[in-house]
Amino acid sequence: MSTRITDPALLARVVTAEEAATHIDPGDNVGMSGFTGAGYPKALPSALAQRIRAAQERGEEFRIGLWTGASTAPDADGVLAEVNGISQRLPYNSDPTLRALINAGEVDYVDAHLSHSAPHMWFGFYGHLHVAVVEVTAVLPGGMLVPSSSVGNNKTWLDRADKVILEVNHWQPREFEGFHDIYYKTALPPHRLPIPLDDPTDRIGEPYLRVDPDKVVAVVETRAPDRNSDFSPPDAVSEAIAGHVVDFLRHEVRAGRMPERLLPLQSGVGNVANAVLAGLDGSEFTDLVAYTEVIQDGMLDLLDNGTLRFASATSFGLSSAGVQRFMEGIDRYKGRILLRSEEISNHPELVRRLGVIAMNGMIEADIYGHVNSTHVMGSAVMNGIGGSGDFARNAYLNMFVSPSTAKGGAISSIVPMASHVDHTEHDVHVVVTEQGLADLRGLSPHDRARKVIANCAHPAYADRLTDYLDRAVAARPTARHTPHLLDEALSWHQRYLDTGTMLPAG
Ligand code: COA
Repeated sequence: MSTRITDPALLARVVTAEEAATHIDPGDNVGMSGFTGAGYPKALPSALAQRIRAAQERGEEFRIGLWTGASTAPDADGVLAEVNGISQRLPYNSDPTLRALINAGEVDYVDAHLSHSAPHMWFGFYGHLHVAVVEVTAVLPGGMLVPSSSVGNNKTWLDRADKVILEVNHWQPREFEGFHDIYYKTALPPHRLPIPLDDPTDRIGEPYLRVDPDKVVAVVETRAPDRNSDFSPPDAVSEAIAGHVVDFLRHEVRAGRMPERLLPLQSGVGNVANAVLAGLDGSEFTDLVAYTEVIQDGMLDLLDNGTLRFASATSFGLSSAGVQRFMEGIDRYKGRILLRSEEISNHPELVRRLGVIAMNGMIEADIYGHVNSTHVMGSAVMNGIGGSGDFARNAYLNMFVSPSTAKGGAISSIVPMASHVDHTEHDVHVVVTEQGLADLRGLSPHDRARKVIANCAHPAYADRLTDYLDRAVAARPTARHTPHLLDEALSWHQRYLDTGTMLPAG
């Protein structure tokens, strides 16, 4: 198993996951690798969960602060949540067991912009990092590490932690060497300099992560796959959404607001975002580039058929079929995919400079264009803001996409007043549902409201929304800029809440 570790000093530190877990103490903050179920440590979390359970059986308190790149998997977040071993979690989670604990008030969840998570750690906003647990593909001499299927915040965790545990995963293809671009010249204010990236294809860093070998307390070898969740196949609703998005891009090209090869694409997480990419497949668009966060299956399809020339991201987020396809054809992706730290993949300066077209899923939008990406019925968190704010706020053009209804039509995704706001009316350019697309750029709140209802609301809810708007306008003669009937807007979800069936799975 040692072919992946060519540093003799670090080879001598290979131990079992159970031994490695003894380096983590109650109350530690632990920075783990992992992003959209890719590149997370596969063995250490379960061993740590056992250690936590054993301590709890002795009547001892044992919980950790868990910091990652983004979401991990049932064998990382899930196993630690099952033993209630997480006291604080940042910056993003999508694990259902952990989500239930967060929504039960058992775990402090710091749902942060992903571009902020590394700098905020450096600024000292999160406190001290005791241990880093980072999956890599190989360990080279001198503490040079070949990263695995995600980069996330690994550079920061490796730099800042007192102790480092490495997991060397033989399942990750050794050919990953050369797929990464790790930028080390980040500095703290007032010493920051412009980031020298002018094109998504630019390499600005090194192919390796670095670790101080003296900090490495344990190395664990694994052979386990990433989470690789499957996507729902595109259905009529997501195909309609994709159709509206692609038509709109054509419209923008015709209007001279975008070049024929568009501008760099960013596509968010989830089924709908994946389906939107499928909509570009087979369109006339070709030779495109992506400056994005996650490479889902839809993006692999575009790379395969030449629609996409190049993709820069921080992580893969592939299905099992997608990962098999990637591994079988890995050589043909080399030089066409680069994974970077999330502080670079999501960097506001770069998103703004490159003129990214951002496309992200949402839970709901209100008639005035405020978007809720994170909360169901205003209170229960679903996943988190992830990178949606990094991209939307700074994009050349952003679109938020969702089916017009959720839960089999029982609830409208277009509402009078968003029950939680992640992206304000000032940051939202375009709202898209299967019903149609509302281009909100340059419109007053009143015109936005009419357009969102007319173009995006499901027919079963459109009249109710129009009636709400008409009555709000009538009732607020001196406040017609963004008129609301507060009692009614805030109780919009009440009848669903009363059923108790609409909260996220946990
Ligand atoms: N009310 C209640 N539940 C809703 C809802 C609404 N208005 N809209 C969506 N949901 C629920 C769905 O019912 C589904 O629940 P289930 O898993 O229990 O079936 C879940 O949210 C996912 O919805 P789905 O329609 O399958 O969309 P998706 O997979 O495309 O995910 C988000 C949509 C918003 C949850 C997802 O895009 C997300 O987490 N976004 C925030 C982070 C982000 O944008 N990251 C991108 C950065 S690059």
